[in-house]
Amino acid sequence: MLRLSTPSIDESVIEAVNAVLRSGQLIYGAQGQHFEAILQDFLGVRHAIVVSSGTAALHLALVALGIGPGDAVLIPNFTFPATGNVVRLVGAHPVLVDVDPSTYCVTPDSVAAAIDAWRGPELLRAFIPVHEFGHPADMRALLPLARYHGLKVVEDAACAIGATENGKACGTQGDIGCWSLHPRKTLTTGEGGILSTDDDVLAAKLRLLRNHGIVRQPQGVRFEEPGYNLRLTDIQSAMGVVQLPHLPRWIDQRRVLAANYCQALAPMVSAGIMTLPAKHPGHSWQTFMVVLRADIDRDRLIRDLAGEGIETNIGAQCLSMQPAFENIQPLPTGVNASNLYKHGLALPFCESYGSPEVERVTNLLSRLLLHPNNH
Ligand SMILES: Cc1ncc(COP(=O)(O)O)c(C=O)c1O
Repeated sequence: MLRLSTPSIDESVIEAVNAVLRSGQLIYGAQGQHFEAILQDFLGVRHAIVVSSGTAALHLALVALGIGPGDAVLIPNFTFPATGNVVRLVGAHPVLVDVDPSTYCVTPDSVAAAIDAWRGPELLRAFIPVHEFGHPADMRALLPLARYHGLKVVEDAACAIGATENGKACGTQGDIGCWSLHPRKTLTTGEGGILSTDDDVLAAKLRLLRNHGIVRQPQGVRFEEPGYNLRLTDIQSAMGVVQLPHLPRWIDQRRVLAANYCQALAPMVSAGIMTLPAKHPGHSWQTFMVVLRADIDRDRLIRDLAGEGIETNIGAQCLSMQPAFENIQPLPTGVNASNLYKHGLALPFCESYGSPEVERVTNLLSRLLLHPNNH
């Protein structure tokens, strides 16, 4: 089976994990601190804080910023639902914003329209732009817009480690940035997440909340306020430490793969069968999702491809179509998120794939879609 993606785990990662297992220091410790230090350099931030998942990072960010009941938070209507789940989990109201049909991200226009249309009763207090699949959201325009309306900004860069916009790492321009280290992401520690901020007070709060609200003093440990346990283990951090130096090369390889796919899929685009994702020089290409013509049976296509040994998937969810967000409709109404959810197809994609995989996938797609009679 050609998998949707396979994490790059070589012997040096296995060795690093073995060394931690032999050391006996399994929970957050020296490896976690080292991973945070090299992440700070890589991202260009004052503080990187590792946690147990991307969802944990988003959740902690909202708690640390004091978002809760009575507050409303702007989020894209097309994303992995964790972006919206955390808003609900802190008791706030998600305001769903439609996305662009080719970048799959919210736009300054769609966010401005949602802010204009919002009538409460909750107070708009925060905005979570998502750098969907590694495509940078337009922070140059979105950040001033959010600031003008007094909104806190938590960037969901779960899929976007290594993506850049205007020379800056995606995730590093708002109040807090969040990344995921899940195995479908370019850098993985099995499960895991990262928070970043340049604000020393916020960083201290995030560290406190990550670890039971504990403050260590010469006299001993004090439980300062109720906190969570959302630590990343040192077993996981050791994986990240070994892998991070490879990330820029992996992203270069992913950029070449995306270009190969675009070229090989061009005949199907010309035939009106699909549209391609928008290109951006800072795109980190965590996922490569095309959008099929509306009359193509996407779920059957996924089954047919699987029958021929190729794993594909839907890209992400339309939140307003999930039971967890029942009765919340995009503001103002918009259909792009639901179209992407219904017709999106994520193709096999990772740094270890090259021309043979692209050829295999695109040949089969063209046999099934462009010349269905030969099927
Ligand atoms: C946009 C987005 N946000 C949040 C998450 C949650 O990350 P995790 O799976 O590490 O909890 C994901 C994971 O797929 C994601 O794609």
